[in-house]
Amino acid sequence: MHCNLYLASGIKERQTAAADCGGRFFLACTGYVYYDNENDQKRFFKVGERKMKQYSELSRSELIELEQRLFLQYEDMRARGLNLNMARGLPSAEQLDMEADFFGILYPDSEFISEEGKDCRNYGELTGIHEARRLMGAMMEIKSENVIVFGNSSLNVMYDTVARSMVLGVCGSTPWCKLDKVKFLCPVPGYDRHFAITEQFGIEMINIPMTNEGPDMDLVENYVNNDPSVKGIWCVPKYSNPGGVTYSDETVRRFANLHPAAEDFRIFWDNAYCIHHLYDDRQDKLVEILDACEKAGNPDMVYKFCSTSKVTFPGSGLAALGASKKNLDYVKSVISIQTIGHDKLNQLRHVRYFKDINGMKAHMKKHAAILRPKFELVQRKLNEELGGLGIGEWSNPVGGYFVSFNTLPGCAGTVISMCKEAGVTMTGAGATYPYKKDPEDSNIRIAPTFPPIDELDQAMDVFTLCVKIASVRKLLG
Ligand SMILES: Cc1ncc(COP(=O)(O)O)c(C=O)c1O
Repeated sequence: MHCNLYLASGIKERQTAAADCGGRFFLACTGYVYYDNENDQKRFFKVGERKMKQYSELSRSELIELEQRLFLQYEDMRARGLNLNMARGLPSAEQLDMEADFFGILYPDSEFISEEGKDCRNYGELTGIHEARRLMGAMMEIKSENVIVFGNSSLNVMYDTVARSMVLGVCGSTPWCKLDKVKFLCPVPGYDRHFAITEQFGIEMINIPMTNEGPDMDLVENYVNNDPSVKGIWCVPKYSNPGGVTYSDETVRRFANLHPAAEDFRIFWDNAYCIHHLYDDRQDKLVEILDACEKAGNPDMVYKFCSTSKVTFPGSGLAALGASKKNLDYVKSVISIQTIGHDKLNQLRHVRYFKDINGMKAHMKKHAAILRPKFELVQRKLNEELGGLGIGEWSNPVGGYFVSFNTLPGCAGTVISMCKEAGVTMTGAGATYPYKKDPEDSNIRIAPTFPPIDELDQAMDVFTLCVKIASVRKLLG
């Protein structure tokens, strides 16, 4: 028996669940009409009614039959010769086009003098022009005196911060390269490029599982408070990459109240998605960590990173470091050897474009208007195709750039390579773990921002189909 599903409204035909129906069980999402071809009759599932069988409840022969049917669909998709990309968290062309008027901010007759009377075309202002420090400070919810504005990439600032600690130490402590062992805690799943930095410097990385409230703080406290070789932890505290988790107030409080065994332990607080909300009325809130640390008597324990890469242009935005006076004084003493100053014309451009944080927030709403339908499409596809089948779990974030998907253990690699073969590039399996080793081979990062929505739609069809096939095969053993 073969069946199709139709939207109850009759607006759009749905066929994608046909293979799952298999004549024996239905994936009927709210308000669908289901058409039973064999008996030539329509049946209607009311809103809220769901009839389905989890894959784990299927008999072996049902699974074999299902696998054959799914694979036929897969062959069909593969034959389409798709070339789609859901790999990296890039803004789409539509988002980039939105910034066209940015280029009209500075022109030869412009006033290039900063608020404090500095000619931005010339050398100087190592920590950034005051108005740029104020703007980035407002974005990071800290005072401008706690901010250094750097160049075009916060990842670069993070890399340099680790490199500086390795070669020269932290505020006068022993350089990490002179120690037998240096360790970093890595909340997982996490951002692959963080892990690549610590891996390159030979720093041992320790997985810390993420919960819905942030990293497992019992483990964090245990490591940080007892092991002096633990020198840092990577954190993406808001709309985390890839899980979209925002650390709870309690998690931030526990971070601020750590008692590190190492005096040069630092929290690497990468607040990359601090103003990257998808909705006006549903926004996560994060307690400000610098203030929390100061109140807890640990003012120097945190470096805060941020950039406008996904506000204006990736690779051409402003990056900033936020930290205590002691930390910034030390960083300044080092970078004064490294550079005479960063790109002040870009700083000026950003300040004049946005004027203040309200301008920036208004601008982020325009990004959200483009991104929201993409994230909602991903959720709809995942719910329609995989909901209730017991073969995957996924995040549903209200901000940031990613959706995190967990397959059945041992299936992520297969899903990624099957997607690739069918013309859909995803972030590599294991990428969200240190050393690219996901112990469960389960986590997949979905990056829905870059492809146009029609391509995303097709890519999600391929992805969900590959998840089904990999899961059936896993269950078949
Ligand atoms: C968590 C996180 N931090 C940093 C970056 C890179 O930032 P930047 O462009 O400022 O180097 C990204 C980019 O995807 C990211 O997801």
